[in-house]
Amino acid sequence: MSRISIAPMVDITDRHFRYFCRILTKKSILYTEMITSSAIIHGDRNKLLDFHPFEKPLALQIAGCDKEEIAEAVKIAEDWDYDEINLNVGCPSDRVSGNQMGAVLMAYPELVAEIVQAMKRETRKPVTVKHRIGIDGTNILPDSLPRVVFDKYEDLEHFVKVLSEAGVSHFIIHARIAILEGLSPKENREIPPLRYEEVYRIKERFPELFIEINGGIKTIESIREHLKHVDGAMLGRIAYENPFMLTEVDQFVEGGEVNNISRREIIEKLMDYVELFGKDQKMGYHALKNTLGLFHNKRGSRIWRQLLTPPWEDGIYAKDVLKKALETLPEEVLDERPIAY
Ligand SMILES: Cc1cc2nc3c(=O)[nH]c(=O)nc-3n(C[C@H](O)[C@H](O)[C@H](O)COP(=O)(O)O)c2cc1C
Repeated sequence: MSRISIAPMVDITDRHFRYFCRILTKKSILYTEMITSSAIIHGDRNKLLDFHPFEKPLALQIAGCDKEEIAEAVKIAEDWDYDEINLNVGCPSDRVSGNQMGAVLMAYPELVAEIVQAMKRETRKPVTVKHRIGIDGTNILPDSLPRVVFDKYEDLEHFVKVLSEAGVSHFIIHARIAILEGLSPKENREIPPLRYEEVYRIKERFPELFIEINGGIKTIESIREHLKHVDGAMLGRIAYENPFMLTEVDQFVEGGEVNNISRREIIEKLMDYVELFGKDQKMGYHALKNTLGLFHNKRGSRIWRQLLTPPWEDGIYAKDVLKKALETLPEEVLDERPIAY
């Protein structure tokens, strides 16, 4: 059966955004932001790992390169009972690849295999890998290492083969390469072209593996199309650009259907949620800041954004802002429901 997931996104998929997503989609799996293994070991664990039970099913994404350290982080996280542990092998950021984490690891499939085996020893939960279709260039130890070009389909197939032999059975593949020098992470999500065919080929070559596709998926129609070729689809930016679309994605998941909920009802549920933050203006703002796209391409979109954007007047809290939105926004947009397919 197919799976839909909401991608790990730093500064976006915090617990507030995940709560919001769960109002919209009941059946997809949500991801945390990427958390480094050393943050889990040395940082404020409760702050990093706590979540609301309503968010489940929920996957924890870990970034790192030291297998002992990653294994320790996985062991620590076991107490939180995430539904899946995911290793980040896709992030092109200097901050990450400069430390030999993220996408640069694609050049070292054997090392990733060892990491994954160490992770699997510490958890009963599925361990999955999120990666690119390839990489170009390396910025680790630039003086001593030649440029790594690992961007052919055959390289990708080799990577998947080595990891599957190490016991990974679920891969999430962002269908573009990461260029490790000269492009920002943002450019790396836009400039390298999408090569969906290579992800489809991986599924053909390894039919027994669960292959999930990611990158540039913006519509229900395109999800439907991808699912003819692969087992799952991971949605990234569209989840905050046009979150209302998430009300339609459960139809692809076993036992799921379109979530028949209106924007008014979504806002009412957010009003209950922000009660948790009472008269803390800052927390209230954080709880809502990634919901800005709820009125994407609809009348009222600008008003919604304006209402949510601080500074809020003294004595105005998140719940008041939402109440005002219900009073001000156009009725027909508030009461619109997803299209049932
Ligand atoms: C703001 C932002 C932060 C991201 N942070 C992460 C991350 O922490 N871990 C990760 O694996 N990918 C991260 N990504 C990449 C997404 O998970 C996804 O692979 C990428 O955006 C492509 O999917 P899309 O075209 O549907 O957005 C991030 C993307 C964005 C836009």
